[in-house]
Amino acid sequence: MNRLHLLGLVTTLLMAPAFADTQPKPPQDKQAFIADLMSRMTLDEKIGQLRLISIGKEMPKPQILKEIAAGRIGGTFNSVTRQENRPLQEAAANNSRLKIPIFFAYDVVHGHRTIFPISLAQASSWDMEAIERGGRISAIESAADGLDMTFAPMVDISRDPRWGRTSEGFGEDPYLVSRIAEVMVKAYQGGATPNQADSIMASVKHFALYGAVEGGRDYNAVDMSPMRMYQDYLPPYKAGLDAGAGGVMVALNSINGTPATSNTWLLQDLLRKEWGFKGVTISDHGAISELMRHGVARDGREAAKLAIKAGVDLSMHDELYASELPGLIESGEVDIREVDNAVREVLGAKWDMGLFADPFLRIGKAQDDSADPGVENLQHRDVARDVARKSMVLLENRRNTLPLEKQGTIALIGPLADSHIDMLGSWSASGAAKQTVTLRQGMQAALGDQARLLYARGANVTNDSHIVEYLNFLNWDDPEVVQDPRTPEAMIAEALKVAQQADVIVAAVGESRGMSHESSSRTSLDLPESQRELLRALKATGKPLVLVLMNGRPLTLKWEQANADAILETWYTGTEGGNAIADVLFGDYNPSGKLPISFPRSVGQIPTYYNHPRIGRPYQVGKPGNYTSQYFEEPNGPLYPFGYGLSYTDFELSPVRLSATKVRRGGKVEASVTVKNTGSRDGATVVQLYLQDVAASMIRPIKELKNFQKVSLKAGEEKVVRFDINEDDLKFYNLQMQYRAEPGEFNVQIGLDSQNVQQETFELE
Ligand code: BGC
Repeated sequence: MNRLHLLGLVTTLLMAPAFADTQPKPPQDKQAFIADLMSRMTLDEKIGQLRLISIGKEMPKPQILKEIAAGRIGGTFNSVTRQENRPLQEAAANNSRLKIPIFFAYDVVHGHRTIFPISLAQASSWDMEAIERGGRISAIESAADGLDMTFAPMVDISRDPRWGRTSEGFGEDPYLVSRIAEVMVKAYQGGATPNQADSIMASVKHFALYGAVEGGRDYNAVDMSPMRMYQDYLPPYKAGLDAGAGGVMVALNSINGTPATSNTWLLQDLLRKEWGFKGVTISDHGAISELMRHGVARDGREAAKLAIKAGVDLSMHDELYASELPGLIESGEVDIREVDNAVREVLGAKWDMGLFADPFLRIGKAQDDSADPGVENLQHRDVARDVARKSMVLLENRRNTLPLEKQGTIALIGPLADSHIDMLGSWSASGAAKQTVTLRQGMQAALGDQARLLYARGANVTNDSHIVEYLNFLNWDDPEVVQDPRTPEAMIAEALKVAQQADVIVAAVGESRGMSHESSSRTSLDLPESQRELLRALKATGKPLVLVLMNGRPLTLKWEQANADAILETWYTGTEGGNAIADVLFGDYNPSGKLPISFPRSVGQIPTYYNHPRIGRPYQVGKPGNYTSQYFEEPNGPLYPFGYGLSYTDFELSPVRLSATKVRRGGKVEASVTVKNTGSRDGATVVQLYLQDVAASMIRPIKELKNFQKVSLKAGEEKVVRFDINEDDLKFYNLQMQYRAEPGEFNVQIGLDSQNVQQETFELE
């Protein structure tokens, strides 16, 4: 026993001998309970609460059990069944001195056992109810696996698709991402406090601004003006926290010269004081040690000191709190109150997760184990299929190539047509690749014997062996990217043979899932050359060519746009993906998704986000471009704009009607349009409301999304869609960083994407 441990024990015995080996008192008042518990903890036990340990190779199980029983671990992540978690909880809740339960966390990002489409795809649905259902099921399934917390939602705004983690977020727009952040937090937590057996605590990540890493290169530095930060990048985190998220994961990046992990402005002034956050902060994986790499800490001791002083409560996969805090306290460099603050937050989170009331709340009793949580999976397949079909975006559909008839012969070709693992997308929690429905399986099931489905792989995802090696890093036992050993020529020849027999070609192309992941930044957003070669050969057959894209970020699709007859962006669709894509291809579901992020024409034009600041020499389509802000070698602007997506039917919007042309402060104006389904199929679309501040004291964005409604209309049906615009919708941060609306004119733009809009104007008096 070390000196500090002994000191703690002596204090404990002196202060509260009666409680020394009893179960914590049943929950009464949260603060009183925690204060009482903390008064009985040794320093060693307190520091133990701040350790979040990854279950895996790093620490063998017997050692973990010993550490937990000694009160030296606060929570773990990466263990995901009741059977795995029960002994760990028993060690904590039954065998440790103070019987403080541990908690179990995991990256449940877009589903747990049933995998839903990736976050970027879910955002494409603009369907809050569908997203809510997916989030709720993720909570139910992960809680049934004994998990208490998820490291999600990831609400980093991303405007640079070179960043591989674009796939994990909900796109480029502050308003849309904020709405989803709120929905996801509530869905996971199942209410204000996640203390029920089917709820888990949400931890909003990555705080903050991780999506703005320079050049889209993962882990790179972030440098940003306060206005942009407050106006565009911070609102989604705030929305998630206002919705009640119990946790915040601190980002790996630096912000304006200080790493988030040691950033007192970020974690104290903004998060705690300005926003009033009361929950727990969690470092990202190894981020405390990385303070040395950032060059702000000379050694591990200084790194631990900076992080605890900044307000990082839980240290994820990092031994520095354990090794350094005792010495730092002893020397007086860290005040015990700083450690106490962190411990209080961790214990508070455990209280909120319901673990003091019942440490086995989500793990259940041993005899429950026969209820294999995997069975849940089957119950949720219908919802997964529905969310997936709502998440796809129809980018092109020349001559009504889609939907396909269920007749004749269809050639399905491409490296992603029959790949189970790629259906899952990144961060697929406990999703099992073999349970996924591939596109080939989905199309075959939809067709039965009504039509002939021929298949050829046609190409490898890439022929670049360095890229394959990179993508299979850490997975050599079970590589994700398995190359077909045939030559590219032989594969294309086989594909052409298949294509020649068919009436239509469906090509499933894109990125393997690892290409859109953490640490997967790209310099090119083209389809890999192996697949482009395949597409050129397929195009030369003269048969109708339908592209089914599977990817986790916007791609540059100039050739594809010009040459494909139809393009369906499916992202990564999850467990039921193949069935859902087949539903859309054959018209059993009419696509209704809209892009939550702009698609650039070329990498050189990035960033192409729609809500960019106004400038003095804007480029105008159709006018001479000299001395305007543009690239002169190619058309400017996105290839597919934010909010864009086609349907198998047509929608028409009436001009915008405003209830008033002048409005007083505190008042509101109602904007309405009539939307009509003028085609011959039932369908849904998203009516989008944008505002433009005509002139203000600060440069304002060209337009900003302020509201939207997803509307379902039968063929021929019309509906009036109404939006209230109030003073809050007009506010922005001025030079003094005050959030104010300024008098003057505002253009109200309503459209079915961000570019084609109807406009009316009102004035704030
Ligand atoms: C990621 C986090 C994730 C954590 C735990 C880190 O590498 O940046 O998003 O939650 O690992 O898996």
